[in-house]
Amino acid sequence: MYLKTLKALALVATAFAAATPAGAQPAPKLKVGLMLPATGTFAALGTAIENGFRLYIDEHGGKLSGREIEFVKVDDESDPAKATDNVNKLIKRDNVDVLVGTVHSGVAMAMAKVAKDTGTLLIVPNAGADAVTGAMCAPNIFRSSFSNWQPGYAMGEVMAKKHYKNVVTITWKYAAGDESVRGFKEAFEKSGGKVVKELSLPFPNVEFQALLTEIAAAKPDAVYTFFAGGGAVKFVKDYAAAGLKKTIPLYGAGFLTDGTLDAQGADAEGLQTTLHYADGLGTPRDNAFRLAYAKTYKLQPDVYAVQGYDAAQMLAVGLAAVKGDIAKKAEFEAALGKATIDSPRGKFTISRSHNPVQDIYLRQVSGKENKLIGVASKSLADPGRGCRM
Ligand code: PHB
Repeated sequence: MYLKTLKALALVATAFAAATPAGAQPAPKLKVGLMLPATGTFAALGTAIENGFRLYIDEHGGKLSGREIEFVKVDDESDPAKATDNVNKLIKRDNVDVLVGTVHSGVAMAMAKVAKDTGTLLIVPNAGADAVTGAMCAPNIFRSSFSNWQPGYAMGEVMAKKHYKNVVTITWKYAAGDESVRGFKEAFEKSGGKVVKELSLPFPNVEFQALLTEIAAAKPDAVYTFFAGGGAVKFVKDYAAAGLKKTIPLYGAGFLTDGTLDAQGADAEGLQTTLHYADGLGTPRDNAFRLAYAKTYKLQPDVYAVQGYDAAQMLAVGLAAVKGDIAKKAEFEAALGKATIDSPRGKFTISRSHNPVQDIYLRQVSGKENKLIGVASKSLADPGRGCRM
C-alpha cells in the first residue's frame, strides 16, 4: 500500500515536472566556436561577421531552440599556418558544439579538414574556397556566404556583354584570388574574351606599384580584380593615384568595395562589381535587418554582416529540426540541406554540396553605397566540382 502510494506520487511529480517548464532542468548552453580574424587586413570583416551573428542571436533572446548560446573566440589572424592548432583548440580544449569561421580561404580549408575528420558541424560565414563545398565537401560542412567562383563567374558574363576583349587580372596569390580569377576567366573566355595577363602578389602584400606599371604598359580594355579588406582599400587608392582609373576601367568581385567605401572615398566612385549583396535592395527583410544592425552597432551593415547573420539563421534552422539536440547530426544536416534561408540578400537555397544558390547582383559605387544596378546572374549555383557525398 505504502509503495503504491509512493509510486503514484512519483508519477504525479513526473507529470507535473514535464508540464511545468519551471520544474524542468534548463537545457545546457550551446557552445559556438567563433574562429575569425581580429587582426590584420581582414580584421574589420571578422568584426562585421560576429556583429551579424550576434544580432540574430540577440533578436531571439540569446537562445536558439531553448539553448542559450555561449561563445568561445579565437583570433585566427588570417594565418593558415596557425589554423589547424586554432581549430583543434576549439574542438578539443573548449569542446565547442559548432564551429563558425572564417574569412580567409586558406584558414577555412584547414578548418574544413578538421571538421571533416572529427564530424564537428562547421558553418563558413565568408571564405569562398571552392574546395570547401567542392572536393572537401562533407555532410557536416555548410557555407552561408559564396564560393570564390560565383562573383567571378558573374563578372565574366557582365564584362563579356560590355564587349571587352582583352582583360588583365590582378589579385593576391592564394586560393581566393586564384579561384575568383578562374571563375571570371571561365565565363569571360566562353563568350569570346581573352585574359591576356594574370598578375598577382603574395597575400597580404600591398606593394602594387610594379604591377600597376605592368597594367599601364599592357593597355588592356579593362581590369578584373579580387582584393578585400585593408588590401582593397589600398588597391583602389593606388589604382586611381597611378592615373589608371581614367584610362583602364576597373571591375572586381564586390569585396573590392564592400565595407571599404569610407576609407576609399572618391577613388571608388563609379566602380562596378558583382556580389550576392547590394545597397538599396529595398526589400522589407533587408530594410528591417539594416535598421536593426545600424541601431545596435551604429554602423551600416555590409556583405560580411549579412553572412554572419545568415550563419546564425542556418544554425537556428538545423537546431529547430532537432529541438536543440545538436547530437542528432543526420536530422540537423538533412533539415538544413533542404532549407530556404530568408536572408537580407534575398532568399537562398543550399546546393547539394552545401553552398548558397543565390542571385549575384551588379552594383555601382555611388557615394558611400554599392548601389544595386540589377541581377547579373540569377540563382547562380557553384558547380561543386569534386564534391562526392
Ligand atoms: C577568402 O579568402 O576566401 C576571402 C577573403 C575576403 C573576402 C572574400 C573572400 O572578402
